[in-house]
Amino acid sequence: MPENRDIEGALKYHNATKHSYASVRANPHFLDFANQPLPFKIYPTLEPSRLPEETPQTGVAALSAIAESIPAQTNAMPDLKAIAQLVHLSSGITRQRKHSGGEIYFRAAACTGALYEVELYLVCGDLDDLPAGIYHFAPAEFGLRQLRTGDYRSALVEATGDEPAIAHAPLTVVSTCTYWRNAWKYQDRTYRHFGWDNGTLLANLLAVATALGLPAKVVCGFVDNKVNALLDVDSQREVAFSAVALGHGSAIPLQSPVEFSSLGLETVPLSRHEVDYPVMREMHAASSLHSNEEVPAWRVHTPPSRFPAPTGPVFQLRPSSDDEMSRDALEQVILRRGSSRKFARTPITLPQLSTILDRATRGVPADFLDPLGTQLNHLYLIIHAVEGLEPGAYFLDRDRRELECLKQGNFRDVAGFLGLEQQLPADAAVDIFFLADLRPILQRFGNRGYRAVQLEAGILGGKCYLAAYAQRLGATGLTFYDDDVTRFFSPHAEGKSAIFLVALGNSVKRQS
Ligand SMILES: Cc1cc2nc3c(=O)[nH]c(=O)nc-3n(C[C@H](O)[C@H](O)[C@H](O)COP(=O)(O)O)c2cc1C
Repeated sequence: MPENRDIEGALKYHNATKHSYASVRANPHFLDFANQPLPFKIYPTLEPSRLPEETPQTGVAALSAIAESIPAQTNAMPDLKAIAQLVHLSSGITRQRKHSGGEIYFRAAACTGALYEVELYLVCGDLDDLPAGIYHFAPAEFGLRQLRTGDYRSALVEATGDEPAIAHAPLTVVSTCTYWRNAWKYQDRTYRHFGWDNGTLLANLLAVATALGLPAKVVCGFVDNKVNALLDVDSQREVAFSAVALGHGSAIPLQSPVEFSSLGLETVPLSRHEVDYPVMREMHAASSLHSNEEVPAWRVHTPPSRFPAPTGPVFQLRPSSDDEMSRDALEQVILRRGSSRKFARTPITLPQLSTILDRATRGVPADFLDPLGTQLNHLYLIIHAVEGLEPGAYFLDRDRRELECLKQGNFRDVAGFLGLEQQLPADAAVDIFFLADLRPILQRFGNRGYRAVQLEAGILGGKCYLAAYAQRLGATGLTFYDDDVTRFFSPHAEGKSAIFLVALGNSVKRQS
C-alpha cells in the first residue's frame, strides 16, 4: 500500500505532468468528439426530487461574502432553500449555449474545458424539508437523488478522525472528481484539475455559506476508502476529493462502527469507452489516508510562509474600503460570471487590483490551513496595465499587503508564452500566478499536501474570479508552461512550482 509520507509519489506525479513547449508538441492527443463523456452523472433507476427554484436573495455583497467567514461555533442550520442556493450557485447550470456538436451547459463556477468532473453529495441529518440521508445533486434536473436514507453523519465523523466542524455539522457537502470526464481532454494532468475545478466551485460554495450565515469548513483529511464507500462511488473512476462542513449544531451522536452496505446502483456510462491514465490513480493512492488514527495526525499546523525581505521597489495595496467597494450581491455576481474569452488591452486601476488581491487572500477555513489565514500558495503577478504601477513582474507579500517589483518591463509576449501560447494572458491587464514551495508542504502533509495545494489555489483563483466580476472586470483561469513560469520569476521563485494561473482585465464583449 503506498504511503502518504513517502512524498516522492506527489513529486513524481507533478514532474511527469508538467507542460513545456516541447511536451505539448510531442503529444499526439486529439479530442475524440464521438467519445466525449456525458457532463452529468445519471442514476437511471432513481427519480430526483426537485429543489426549490424560488429562493430568497441574500443580497450580501460578493466582495464581503468572499472575504469573510462565519465563526465556527455560530449555531445555524441550513434548510432546503439554503441547500438549493448552495448547490445552484456553486455547481448548478447558469447558462447554456448551442454549438455544432450539441449544447454546452455552463455551470456556476469556472471549470477546465467546461467538462465539470466534480460531483456533489450531501450527507445530512434531519433538516427542515429534507429528511436525513445521503443525496447526489443532479444539476440537469436541479434536484437531489437520495442514495441512502437515515443519518450517516457519524460515518463522516469517524472517517475524518473526529474533525470538530464535521462533528457538529447538520450538513456536509462532499465533492468527488471523476477522472475520465476531464481526462478525455487533459489526460493525466487531470489530477491537478481536480484541485483547480473543485477549488473554484468551493470558492462559490464558501461565499454562499457566508452570505447565508452558515459556518463552513473545508476538510481534506479523511479515510478515503470509507468516504468513497459511504457515497458508493466506483473509486477506480470517481473519488472523494474534499468535504465542506456546513452549519453548526449539537454534536452528532456517534454510533461506532457505522454499518452500511454497497448500493450497487446503476449509472449511465459516460462514454462508449474510457481511457485509463494509471498515474492519476497512483497519485491518488499515494495521497490516501487509510485509518482513523492517521487522520488527526495528518491535521498539523500549516508550515509558515517566510518571505524574503524585499529588495525591489514596494507598493502598498490600496483596496477599496467597505464604503467604496461595489455592493453587487453575490447571486448577481455568480450569475454574471463567465470566463473572459478576449481581453481589451486597457488598464484597470490599482484599487481594483488591490481589492481583488485583498479580498481573495483573507483566509480560507480549512483543515490544512491552521491557523486561519495561513496560505500554501504564493502570488506572483505579471502586470501589463494597472494605473499607477509600472508594467513588470511583482510578488505579493500578503503579510505586509504590498507588491514588490521584481523586474520592470513589458512582458505581454512572455505572458502569452507562459500561459501556453494563448492570447488571453498576453492581452489581460494582470496575470496572477500561484506558486508553491512543494517540499516543505509535502514534508508536513505528505502527498496529500499536493491535493491541498491545488485545492487552495483553485479556491483563491475562484475568489479572484468573483472579486473581478463584482467590479465588472473579467477573469479567466489558464494553464501554463510549468518550469518557464518558475524561471521567469526567479531568482525570487527559485525552487517553487507553478500551481495555477488566473488572468484579469477588461473583457471584450462577445459579438453575437
Ligand atoms: C483552472 C482553469 C484553467 C483554465 N484554463 C483555460 C485555458 O488555458 N484557456 C482557456 O481559454 N480557458 C481556460 N479556462 C476557462 C474554462 O474554459 C471555462 O471556465 C469553461 O469553459 C467554463 O466556462 P465559464 O468559466 O465561462 O463558465 C480555465 C478555467 C479554469 C478554472
